[in-house]
Amino acid sequence: MSKLILGIDAGNHTAKVAGPYGMDSYRTAICDWFERDIVESHGADDMEFEIDGRRGYAGTIAVYEDEFGGTGMYGDTKAHEDTKIRVLLAIYRYGQKYGIDISEVAVVTGQPIVSHKPAEKTAISEMLTGTHSLTVNGYETAITITDVGIAAEGAGAFWAAPAGGTIRVIDVGSGTVNAASIVDKRYINNASDTFNFGMETVNNKNDLAAVARAIARNTSRLKWHRNDRVLLCGGIAADLYPHIQTHYGAAELMHPVLQEGNHVTVAEPVFANAIGFYKLARMSFA
Ligand SMILES: Nc1ncnc2c1ncn2[C@@H]1O[C@H](COP(=O)(O)OP(=O)(O)OP(=O)(O)O)[C@@H](O)[C@H]1O
Ligand SMILES: [Mg+2]
Repeated sequence: MSKLILGIDAGNHTAKVAGPYGMDSYRTAICDWFERDIVESHGADDMEFEIDGRRGYAGTIAVYEDEFGGTGMYGDTKAHEDTKIRVLLAIYRYGQKYGIDISEVAVVTGQPIVSHKPAEKTAISEMLTGTHSLTVNGYETAITITDVGIAAEGAGAFWAAPAGGTIRVIDVGSGTVNAASIVDKRYINNASDTFNFGMETVNNKNDLAAVARAIARNTSRLKWHRNDRVLLCGGIAADLYPHIQTHYGAAELMHPVLQEGNHVTVAEPVFANAIGFYKLARMSFA
């Protein structure tokens, strides 16, 4: 089999994966290993792992350990070890889900716009490239990541539905909002930024009008105009959409399309980055 190619958006809340067989996602909470008094059966998302010598739990089980620290880094860089764990678990799960060989993989993954800089990109690339030993829920394997590309979150989503003219992408995540400007398929750094808030860090995540106001305030500083073509993606996109429309009348909810031969999947807006990353990965590594 030829090398597996994946787009992996290793979010602080949820990892999203797109590849030749379809999509996958899982909750990215991670905590350090501890002795469990009661060994419950593994939930669909629960993973006990040992990766390159680090032991821990990931998935829903780790969400409940969250309050004791060691997890939930809602930061604006992904150049840290949790990203490696998230990416490797994403690859492992993808192989399990679709019953495929996952020994060699080429990936494109993401980094918030604000930290999308050469040094950080190199750090992620060096951390991911090479052979990693994994044990997940007792199953031992090895994954070799042969190639790594790093795309900017939000800007990467653009490649899920590329179009000409001036396009703005708003990617609302758990800890960050990425706002990207693309003009005639060229990324415009001056009109793009990462805002340091997300659905898990706002005061009231039910007040979506306030979230939309905060986004509009920040994007207007980037000189975005009210009638710009704005594409909305991320986990909360569908619920937030009407509120964004009050500021950007021409806003659209992204419906990223994954196409493999004759097989076309129209995905939820949360998969926009992963699908964009996958398309970039195919262009670079196929
Ligand atoms: N239907 C929903 N209602 C409310 N919140 C939602 C809903 N769906 C998703 N969310 C929120 O969206 C966020 C997850 O979105 P997403 O997967 O885009 O974030 P992420 O990529 O993991 O985060 P980041 O980009 O900051 O790393 C979570 O904070 C989650 O609580
Ligand atoms: Mg995200």
